[in-house]
Amino acid sequence: MFYEINTPHGLPNDPFKACVAPRPIGWISSLGIDGTPNLAPYSFFNAISGAPPMVMYASNGSHAHGPKDTVTNIEATGEFVVNVATWDLREQMNASSADLPPETDEFIHAGLTAAPSRLVKAPRVDESPINLECVHHQTIELPSDDPNTRNVMVIGRVVGVHIHDNVLVDGRIDVTLYRPLARLGYMDYAVVDKVFTMTRPT
Ligand SMILES: Cc1cc2nc3c(=O)[nH]c(=O)nc-3n(C[C@H](O)[C@H](O)[C@H](O)COP(=O)(O)O)c2cc1C
Repeated sequence: MFYEINTPHGLPNDPFKACVAPRPIGWISSLGIDGTPNLAPYSFFNAISGAPPMVMYASNGSHAHGPKDTVTNIEATGEFVVNVATWDLREQMNASSADLPPETDEFIHAGLTAAPSRLVKAPRVDESPINLECVHHQTIELPSDDPNTRNVMVIGRVVGVHIHDNVLVDGRIDVTLYRPLARLGYMDYAVVDKVFTMTRPT
């Protein structure tokens, strides 16, 4: 089949997100200007550079009560943390995506521990095996089909990395020990629990 965007695809659900799968989940913690901790998952997320390490995520749409807190907080404070969402933390990750007002602390809502970061004021998820402390680099405005909501790509520079010692084996991160989640299309997820290795051709 083929469909042109903005013409009927004839399927029961929009297939686009299932066409770009799996997508890693950036579970992003930030701090409101009033000091309220915030946490939410974003699967329009990825690492986009290694030297220096940089990440991006995209915020689409808004809440009934206003813009999404994560983008508001990052633009106001200039800082955030990316936490790895794991199989063991799947319910907490999902709970933190609830449509909650800015004064609600999603760490408390999801039953998670907010640990202090080292280089940024935003807290990190203590239970998550990996936390990337980030500073805001740039926000890029994207086209939005809804003129009333912003569609933005937020780029951050990673300035500090926490790794739980128990996911390191011989100095290498073993993802099978924490099983990161990935987002597919619809309401589907994947979990990474099997790894294979290929060497690049010379
Ligand atoms: C697995 C998952 C991935 C998500 N990815 C995105 C995303 O990439 N962009 C987005 O705008 N919302 C995404 N959401 C929805 C947000 O998490 C949700 O709107 C949340 O309430 C935003 O919280 P905030 O206002 O504290 O930033 C996702 C939700 C889930 C469960």
